[in-house]
Amino acid sequence: MDDLLAYRDRFPILADCTYLINHSLAAMPAAAEDNLLEYARMWRERGIRSWGEGWWEMPITVGDQIGRIVGAPPGSTVMHQNVTVAEEIVLSCFREPGTRNRIVYEEENFPSVRYLYQAKPDLEVTTVADDAAIVDAIDERTLLVPISHVLFKNAEIQHVEPIVRRAHEAGAHVVLDCYQSAGVVPLDVTALDVDFAVGGSVKWLCGGPGAGWLYVRPDLAEQLEPTFVGWQGHARPFAFEPELDYAAGARRFLTGTPNVPALYAATAGYDVIEEVGVDRIRERSLALTRFLIDRLDAAGFEIGSPREPSRRGGTVLVRTPDDAAVHRELGERGIICDFRPGAGVRLGPHFYNTEGELEATVEALTEIVSSGAYERHAGAAARF
Ligand SMILES: Cc1ncc(COP(=O)(O)O)c(C=O)c1O
Repeated sequence: MDDLLAYRDRFPILADCTYLINHSLAAMPAAAEDNLLEYARMWRERGIRSWGEGWWEMPITVGDQIGRIVGAPPGSTVMHQNVTVAEEIVLSCFREPGTRNRIVYEEENFPSVRYLYQAKPDLEVTTVADDAAIVDAIDERTLLVPISHVLFKNAEIQHVEPIVRRAHEAGAHVVLDCYQSAGVVPLDVTALDVDFAVGGSVKWLCGGPGAGWLYVRPDLAEQLEPTFVGWQGHARPFAFEPELDYAAGARRFLTGTPNVPALYAATAGYDVIEEVGVDRIRERSLALTRFLIDRLDAAGFEIGSPREPSRRGGTVLVRTPDDAAVHRELGERGIICDFRPGAGVRLGPHFYNTEGELEATVEALTEIVSSGAYERHAGAAARF
């Protein structure tokens, strides 16, 4: 644990506040600033030559780094702007679904992902209560099963294996959204045998915005032809050929000019996650969330997230009399967290947080609720 605490110096914001919002925007590694300066230096000094000196290949090279964290082989993961774009690319492989046009997902799937499927009139969306119900709802008309590995609202880890098994039996494909697991809950997309996996970088990967990723199972990548494609997805982009000829493997899932500065920033986060190791992060995360749950129990709060380690992601949900107002008051006291409507206040410690910070947070929560200090924020609106 002491060696993990040594990492605190690498995250400047930890010196200024109690940062418990790693399920939303994790702390910035100081190295991200160095990487962005390096990006600017390249642009200034190398100009157009930068494309050949790494920029053009970054969606692949950075994707390979994500691959090392999530168990994807080299060449199977590419970088995009966000999960929504990555998932639209997946869907674009199945343009004329015919009678196999059913999308099955659960109620707590992330809204942006839901909207994407709801907006397509030729798809039939079936929404079910939970992960077990997904297994039952998959049938021979199911095209895609987009699921979250860890639910955003209450951090519950989903049982992925039975869903994949049933989907494959029925001829459907699984898209695993790993945004709330990658970097804090170990996962192996190859062992899970998912067809696609997507994620972003702002949360546990400490990579900042603009760096989404898409994994496609290597044997599938060779067969699929995404219709949302661009010149980076062409076999010979610099031949500027008028006709489309798909690149091999995951490259065909690329679109146009990559988001280079975001990729520079993001690798600073991935570097530290790789250095610490997700297994070690998970061990620490389970200890911290256990500590938090114990303190919240002792203070008489109701917990809104799973207690069992096998179902517990990185975030603890606590119910309060007015989540929006309590969250606002915590923020004014330098405790940075968030809340989700109907779910509770979300407290998400990462490997660099301390028991002392969690203890102080529970003390502050107790005082805020028992004194009614939150009441001056009554009617506070939902925001970050
Ligand atoms: C599970 C999950 N999926 C997706 C997203 C975000 O998607 P996007 O990258 O399209 O903003 C989030 C959170 O912001 C999330 O928690």
